[in-house]
Amino acid sequence: MSTILPSAASLYDRVRRVIPPIEWPSFSDDIEAILALKRERNAVILAHNYQTPEIFHCVADIVGDSLALARKAMSTEADVIVLAGVHFMAETAKLLNPQKTVLIPDLRAGCSLADSITAEDIRLLRQRYPGVPVVTYVNTSADVKAESDICCTSGNAKAVVESLGVPKVIMLPDEYLAQNIAAQTKVQITAWKGHCEVHERFTPADIRQLRESHPGVMVLAHPECPPDVVAEADFSGSTAAMSDYVERQKPPRVVLMTECSMSDNVAVQHPEIEFIRPCNLCPHMKRITLANIRSALEQNRHEVMIEPDIAARARLAVERMLAV
Ligand code: 13P
Ligand code: SF4
Repeated sequence: MSTILPSAASLYDRVRRVIPPIEWPSFSDDIEAILALKRERNAVILAHNYQTPEIFHCVADIVGDSLALARKAMSTEADVIVLAGVHFMAETAKLLNPQKTVLIPDLRAGCSLADSITAEDIRLLRQRYPGVPVVTYVNTSADVKAESDICCTSGNAKAVVESLGVPKVIMLPDEYLAQNIAAQTKVQITAWKGHCEVHERFTPADIRQLRESHPGVMVLAHPECPPDVVAEADFSGSTAAMSDYVERQKPPRVVLMTECSMSDNVAVQHPEIEFIRPCNLCPHMKRITLANIRSALEQNRHEVMIEPDIAARARLAVERMLAV
């Protein structure tokens, strides 16, 4: 069956609100090449909400938060998955699709949370807190997931913690996510000291200033922000939850306390909403570009491989999460 590729003009229409016409020619060749390569290789592109609009709106097949990308990775019939996001997301896709080729366009697309903890740290924590289950944020390596009882994302962390039916859990590596969830549940949570280098920079003073300079603004904060920031916000949730909130409530003025591309991607669909943008860039997410997505498909790089014993144990922790 042949598929009709969208024309360059119809693609530009999707992003004209956030990409100036002068920039478009620098993207259009790569976009056309990527659309053709996807067909040739029976490939899909999974893109996180923090990818830039030319990736998110013009070449991605599946977009969403970490939880949606993990779930949707399982239902694709493609032979090749290109993960436009960071390395832990590509590993999660590979764990759930061991038979498929999973590519990450730049191996340096890491995450400060994933870098904050090792498998050995978890083994030591288990000695210190015997019998306490370990709930691990998906923003971690497969090695770390393999030492964990169950994974969670920012979209399901409370439900995962409460699903275990125990009075106490260890939740790692994001200290702020753990504290934000602890504020919503009776389960006692022991946290680790990891932080997201993007979200830890927001402060309550930022929010107070925004409210002064933009009266009536609704403030949405990702739960990786410090608890005092979440406390000052009007709503806190995963990237998908923030996007759904905007869709449902249609606030006339909104600020998303999160990574910069998120507002661009949501703003494309909501011309009637004013987005205030004091955002922080994630340097890891920004490693992914149209040019390296194209090379990934042309040269089959960089293929994600996980040692089988680690993969089997890490997969269990991810599957337990998906069953909640
Ligand atoms: P979400 O699961 O909310 O998309 O968050 C992933 C992430 O890396 C946020 O910094
Ligand atoms: Fe990691 Fe933060 Fe970047 Fe998300 S935004 S990938 S948590 S460093």
